[in-house]
Amino acid sequence: MTVKEIVLSCLEQNRGETLSGQQLADAAQASRSAVWKAIHLLQQEGHQITALPRRGYRLEPESDRLSAQAIRQALDPGYQDIPLILLNTIDSTNQEAKRRLLDHAKHRTVIFSEEQTQGRGRLGRSFYSPACTGLYFSAILLPNLPLEQVGCLTVAAANAVCRGLEELGVKQPGIKWVNDIYIKGKKVCGILTEGSSHWETGVLESAVVGIGINVSTLEFPGELGQKAGSVFLAPGLRSRLAGRVLSHLFALTEPVQPAALIEEYKQRCIVLGKTVRYQLQGKEHQAMAVDINEAGNLIVEENGARQVLSSGEISVRLLPDSREI
Ligand code: BTN
Repeated sequence: MTVKEIVLSCLEQNRGETLSGQQLADAAQASRSAVWKAIHLLQQEGHQITALPRRGYRLEPESDRLSAQAIRQALDPGYQDIPLILLNTIDSTNQEAKRRLLDHAKHRTVIFSEEQTQGRGRLGRSFYSPACTGLYFSAILLPNLPLEQVGCLTVAAANAVCRGLEELGVKQPGIKWVNDIYIKGKKVCGILTEGSSHWETGVLESAVVGIGINVSTLEFPGELGQKAGSVFLAPGLRSRLAGRVLSHLFALTEPVQPAALIEEYKQRCIVLGKTVRYQLQGKEHQAMAVDINEAGNLIVEENGARQVLSSGEISVRLLPDSREI
């Protein structure tokens, strides 16, 4: 660990308390001037650290920058060495992940950004990603997955987000097929999984699993205000949430176990047993969502006939009277 990482880790563990330059220097086995330089860099990165003359340094309780150290501390032991890239602003972490894949990024590299200027959603939609309030990240996976199991990555990510939120005390997150997490009728998270495969091998060679969680976002523009909601976490906990979600995502995809993944997904799914609307080949349908198969497709029933809906083409809407869970 670098001096900067050790200093930040000490301050995070004693949030709101003042640590002397000497205490930090001892912890980092560095000089006090090296500590001073590290503090300066951390302040430039946006961490709210107050320097108190002759007393030391304090990380302010409201400081809420993502921190690689805090993310690592929240990761399960097997994953603490993964490459983490933290950015201030980017067009889209999924786009950045794909650029880095061309540059041979390693399996489990994760790109975070405090803000996205062109956050992307499924079916060409945009994802509102304002600075500092949400959690936006993309994990690169090199899974060598049979193509018929590709849908399992989004299923795993949705389960992972729910598990992570629950571990941080957030109550009753539910999954709206296929890639949205809802709480009390509002969308708080979206997942965008993109991948590439080779003709010859017939396996998914690389995937980017992008996750956007609205954390403490108070206002959403235009019509989004009706649909979107936020989870509210104490300062510093965005990093913890990221670490927990990633740990679950990696554990659930190595190896992929479709039956177990789908079972958990179905338990969490807010769509099953509800009436949904969707468009297929230009025609509006209204049907009952009855099941999800092992490929992650939604099975609906309309006038006694069953139809398998694939996530690639379809977006379902719950009818207003069935929105509450
Ligand atoms: C959706 O709502 O359809 C999916 C939204 C996915 C948003 C996340 S935020 C991190 C990553 N980068 C993106 O541009 N999109 C995903």
